[in-house]
Amino acid sequence: MIKKILLWRDKKFYWKEKDLHTSYGLFKEKDLEDAKPGSTVKSNTDYELKILPATFLDKIEKLKKGPQSIPLKDIGTIITYSGLTKDSTVVDAGTGSGILACLLANFAKQVTTYEIREDFVKIANKNIEALNLKNIEVKNKNITTGIDEKDVDLITLDMGSPWEAIPEVEKALKPGAILVSYSPSTPQVTDLITALDPKKFKVLKVIEVIEREWEFNERRIHPKYQMLGHSGFLVFVRKI
Ligand SMILES: C[S@@+](CC[C@H](N)C(=O)[O-])C[C@H]1O[C@@H](n2cnc3c(N)ncnc32)[C@H](O)[C@@H]1O
Repeated sequence: MIKKILLWRDKKFYWKEKDLHTSYGLFKEKDLEDAKPGSTVKSNTDYELKILPATFLDKIEKLKKGPQSIPLKDIGTIITYSGLTKDSTVVDAGTGSGILACLLANFAKQVTTYEIREDFVKIANKNIEALNLKNIEVKNKNITTGIDEKDVDLITLDMGSPWEAIPEVEKALKPGAILVSYSPSTPQVTDLITALDPKKFKVLKVIEVIEREWEFNERRIHPKYQMLGHSGFLVFVRKI
């Protein structure tokens, strides 16, 4: 588990255990263990780095990645527009590396996440352990064959064919609860919306989130020359 991070200008080093080897030299485990947050530690080459406690996001950045995970800008939007609270029960599929499931679990009461591939289940379970999250369960199961949980407040789908899960989503969601589906391409959005019976579901919105980061260096402040142009479409649906 990442315990602390070390900072030097725009560089960030993550310390887990034992001595830490960096491009600024070697930092001894004992010095890192003893260092108070906000203080500095010295390497064997006399470089001083500031030491800070690792935040949840610092730890997320160092998780093992399997299949492509949803960018944080989209996860933030899912959390706010779904109305997720600390009392929410959530079902998620597919788990992949578990990045979305872990971020949801950081806010929700309980998250159950379904994944068909055993190798991804292993990666996700390692990541959950690294974050010390106790409110996530990973099920090695195809979500289209059944959702065991009932009266669910939120279902998130990040899988190739989300429309195949709709009959099970309908049975598992509470009336008034939210389904969010994330898909990289428009035919997936069309197929999902076509599969939703308008007497049972209301499509609230379809959005794409664009994040444009800026560079700042004294008075030279401008958008970065390169950006993530497209990630995916988010479809927000309410069970009626
Ligand atoms: C893009 S990845 C999900 C990434 C994940 N949301 C994250 O944040 O790390 C899609 C995953 O869905 C899984 N998947 C596809 N169809 C599924 C199904 N019917 N039931 C469960 N998992 C499924 C795939 O094996 C794959 O791991």
